[in-house]
Amino acid sequence: MNTMQTNVKPVKHFVSLDTLSLEEIMSMIEESLRYKQGDLPPLFDGKTVANLFFENSTRTKNSFQMAERHLNMQEIPFDVTTSSVTKGETLYDTCKTLEAIGVDALVIRHPEAGYYHELVEKLNIPVLNGGDGSGEHPSQSLLDLVTIFEEFGTFQGLNVAICGDLVHSRVARSNASVLKRLGANVVGCSPASWWDDSMGLERKELDDILGECDVIMLLRVQHERHIMGDVFSKEAYHTQFGLTVERVERMKAGAIIMHPAPVNRDVEIAGSLIEHERSRIFPQMKNGVYARMSILNRALGGQQ
Ligand code: CP
Repeated sequence: MNTMQTNVKPVKHFVSLDTLSLEEIMSMIEESLRYKQGDLPPLFDGKTVANLFFENSTRTKNSFQMAERHLNMQEIPFDVTTSSVTKGETLYDTCKTLEAIGVDALVIRHPEAGYYHELVEKLNIPVLNGGDGSGEHPSQSLLDLVTIFEEFGTFQGLNVAICGDLVHSRVARSNASVLKRLGANVVGCSPASWWDDSMGLERKELDDILGECDVIMLLRVQHERHIMGDVFSKEAYHTQFGLTVERVERMKAGAIIMHPAPVNRDVEIAGSLIEHERSRIFPQMKNGVYARMSILNRALGGQQ
């Protein structure tokens, strides 16, 4: 009898929440909260992960690294600026190389929307999307869902407004889709020139819906993806579209403020509101570690 074990690893790419069923998403939310409570063991001694960030990051990169440490994984350091990417190596060749040398999973942030299509077809190790251009940001979306579920215990019937620079926002794209699937009433508030019909949201004025919303989800004005000064001054944007100190007073009882960060203080939100009692901005970041533990766990075939 041939007793050799085939070295087939579970491959569970995590590139968009659209590829997961609602049952899978809910079970990842619950699993994230179990990690937060310390209920699940770190099962991954000896597993290795490379974090490939072709765009800058504070939260996503560091919280994936923290999640990897909590799970007893080892990070294989990868720095785009000192890698052979600078010699013209393609993304696929870089990833295939890391697979060949034994890396078990790849976390990738890349400026090109949908960069992962070739990778998920051809690689035998999981690709975990840390943000693809203006495409999607599924790990941010999962941590946002964990934060909302922790607060309200449901998504059904919640009124959520996604506000700001929608057209450039991968966070908005991921959250609009999954929150609607989960039964929330989701609307968008943005300047006309930053609106994106493809998200399938109804466009509203923030002042008209502020008092009915359970969640005000603000988006960063992405200065690096357009020239805001051509359209608004920062002060004009803040007054017309931002969450001002005056607007917070008109929010519904129990309603919360979210923002994926980094934040442009006094542009999309008044600086004094970032740590307001309604703000969940730093709790979102904390939940990001547990959500990413769940993502790594699923990708590497751990407990469910
Ligand atoms: N929210 C978010 O993706 O932040 P970073 O760009 O710092 O990772």
